[in-house]
Amino acid sequence: MSKNSYRVIQWATGTVGKASLKYFIENPVIELVGVYVTNPDKFGVDAGDLVGLPKTGILATNDAEALIALDADCVLFAATSGPAILDPICRLLASGKNVVSTAGPFLPNKWFAADAEKIEAACRAGNSSFHGCGIHPGFSGDLLPLTLARLMNRIDCIEVTEIIDKLRNPMIYTEIMGFGADPEELLANPRRSPETYKYFYSSMEMIATGLGKEIEKVTVRLEVAKAKNDIVHPHGVVKKGMVGGQHYEWTAWVEGAPLIVYHFYWQLGTDLDPLWEEGEAKYRVVIKGDPPLECHLMGGKDADGRHPFLGLPWTGLVGCTVVPQICDAPAGVISHLNLGVVQPRGLVRR
Ligand SMILES: NC(=O)c1ccc[n+]([C@@H]2O[C@H](COP(=O)([O-])OP(=O)(O)OC[C@H]3O[C@@H](n4cnc5c(N)ncnc54)[C@H](OP(=O)(O)O)[C@@H]3O)[C@@H](O)[C@H]2O)c1
Repeated sequence: MSKNSYRVIQWATGTVGKASLKYFIENPVIELVGVYVTNPDKFGVDAGDLVGLPKTGILATNDAEALIALDADCVLFAATSGPAILDPICRLLASGKNVVSTAGPFLPNKWFAADAEKIEAACRAGNSSFHGCGIHPGFSGDLLPLTLARLMNRIDCIEVTEIIDKLRNPMIYTEIMGFGADPEELLANPRRSPETYKYFYSSMEMIATGLGKEIEKVTVRLEVAKAKNDIVHPHGVVKKGMVGGQHYEWTAWVEGAPLIVYHFYWQLGTDLDPLWEEGEAKYRVVIKGDPPLECHLMGGKDADGRHPFLGLPWTGLVGCTVVPQICDAPAGVISHLNLGVVQPRGLVRR
C-alpha cells in the first residue's frame, strides 16, 4: 500500500547528490531524515545550506553507523563509484532500508554476478529493495528506447547517442577521460577501457531481453579529434594537437548483425579536427526499421537560447522520482523490467 510520506536519507552530495537532496527537501511526500557526506567542510552543515534552500534542521554527517541505525524508508546512494560501495549498500539494505543507487551496480548481469548475489542476500536479510538508476545507464540507453519500441512495427537497429560539449558543461570527468592526452597514446590506452561496456551491458541487455533476443557479443571502437589550437577549459588546458574530442562506439550484436549501438560524442568546443557535427548536448535515440523513429532528449533552453547538458541532475532526479515505488515494491532487486510504469509523486505543487 502506498504511503503518504517516505523517510529518506541522502548518501553523498556531489553534483548528482545535490540534485536529489534539493528534490527531497522540496518534495511534499518526502521527509528528509539524514544526509551522509565525506567532505569535512560539510560536516554539521544544514542540508538546506548545502543546496541553497532554507534550513531543514537535518545536519550532514559522516557518521555512517548512525545513519545505518536510523529509521528510514529509503537511501538515495550517490557516492563515488567503486568496489567500496558494495559494503555500505548491503549494510543499508540489511538494516531494512530500500536503496536507490546512482553509483551502481545498475542492474545485475553476468559480469557482476557476485555483486548481485550479495545485494540479493542483503535484500532478503532486510526485507528491502535495491534499484540501480541513472541517465545512462538507467534511462536514455535502455528505458527510453524500449519504451519507444512500442511505436515500431519492425526494428533493424537502435542507436543511442550521448552528445556533450565539455567546454559548456564542465565536469570532473574531463581529465579522467583523457582529454589533453596524446592522440596515439589515448587510442592505444583508452581511459574508458574496452571493458567499460560491461557497465552498460545491463542497458543493452535490457533492450535485447525486452525484445526477446540475446546479445552474442559487444564490439568497441574509439576515434579521437585533435585540438586545432590550445583549448582552455575549467580544469586546465588542452594543447594544440592533443585530444580535444572522443567518440566511443559500442555495438551489441544479435543474430549476426548490430542491434544496439551506443555512441558517445564528447567534445571540448568546436575548434577540433575532425569536428563531428552532432549538434547540441543531448541524448538521441534513432530506431531504424518500420517506421523509422528519432527522439531527442535535451534540457530546456538556457537564457542564451542553447540547450544545457542535464545528464547529472537527471541522474539524481530519475532516482528521486522512483523512491515511493521502490519503497512500496516487494523485496529484492528491482529493474525497469519489473518496475512497471513509474508514477512520480509530489511533483505538481500549485
Ligand atoms: N548512471 C548514470 O547515468 C550516472 C551519471 C552520472 C553519475 N553517475 C554516478 O553517480 C554517482 C555520483 O556522481 P557525481 O557526478 O555526483 O559525482 P561527484 O560529484 O564526484 O560526487 C560524488 C560524491 O561522493 C562522495 N565521495 C567522495 N569521495 C568518496 C569516496 N572515496 N567514497 C565514497 N564517497 C565519496 C562525495 O560526497 P560529499 O561531497 O557529500 O562528501 C562526493 O561529492 C557516481 O557514482 C557516478 O558514477 C551515474
